[in-house]
Amino acid sequence: MRVVIAGGHGKIALLLEGLLTGRGDQVVGLIRNPAHVADVQQAGAEAVVRDLETASAGDVALLLSGADAVVFAAGAGPGSGVPRKDFVDRGASVLMAGAAERAGVRRFVQISAMGAGRPPQPGADEVWAAYITAKAAAEADLRSRDLDWTILRPGRLTDAPATGRVRLAAPPVPRGTVPRADVAAVIAALLDQPGTCRHTLELVSGDSPVAAAVRSIS
Ligand SMILES: NC(=O)c1ccc[n+]([C@@H]2O[C@H](COP(=O)([O-])OP(=O)(O)OC[C@H]3O[C@@H](n4cnc5c(N)ncnc54)[C@H](OP(=O)(O)O)[C@@H]3O)[C@@H](O)[C@H]2O)c1
Repeated sequence: MRVVIAGGHGKIALLLEGLLTGRGDQVVGLIRNPAHVADVQQAGAEAVVRDLETASAGDVALLLSGADAVVFAAGAGPGSGVPRKDFVDRGASVLMAGAAERAGVRRFVQISAMGAGRPPQPGADEVWAAYITAKAAAEADLRSRDLDWTILRPGRLTDAPATGRVRLAAPPVPRGTVPRADVAAVIAALLDQPGTCRHTLELVSGDSPVAAAVRSIS
């Protein structure tokens, strides 16, 4: 399987690149900073430099040509302000999904976030509100497309080691944390499970082995 990961130098993305290339998949990581090329290659993937805030859909569609799946793992990240939440968390996902359609790449796994299922509470921090609004808009865009999408909403991410055990289900799942390494393992398993297409799933740490949790969805 050839998989293109948007936000290829992200913490989840680097873990996912290692898992996928370790099982024999070909992986391309789209990054915006040339200084990150070596890290992506170290994880076993090919690095392609494209800033998803400025790239055109036609250019990205060319990059997706021949791919079997896209994973959207980008995010404006901590410390970014309101505009970049919209440019990256919504805009870059819309760009990737449109490019996937143009390139005929049907499988699309989007990393969203728990909380995207509800509008922000009145009085919520404005950056948090912009983030959740952007994630919700990216989800809505993806659902409107003729793609084999899966939307994955992890709880609060940690850098703890993988546990291999998760709680993965349709919303609502009670809030919790989940190691990025377990999120990467779940995405690797989702890519192999066509039965998870057109599902929105929430993910926190739990008791089910990853493979069983993903199988239980279809
Ligand atoms: N933090 C949480 O608790 C939490 C919870 C649920 C979901 N999430 C979501 O999970 C996803 C992955 O999380 P993570 O911790 O792995 O993220 P991360 O380490 O912050 O990685 C995000 C990546 O996106 C890249 N990116 C940003 N703008 C870009 C652009 N214009 N073009 C190309 N790449 C760009 C960043 O590149 P640079 O290094 O160049 O900036 C970074 O490598 C994100 O969408 C996040 O919102 C987070």
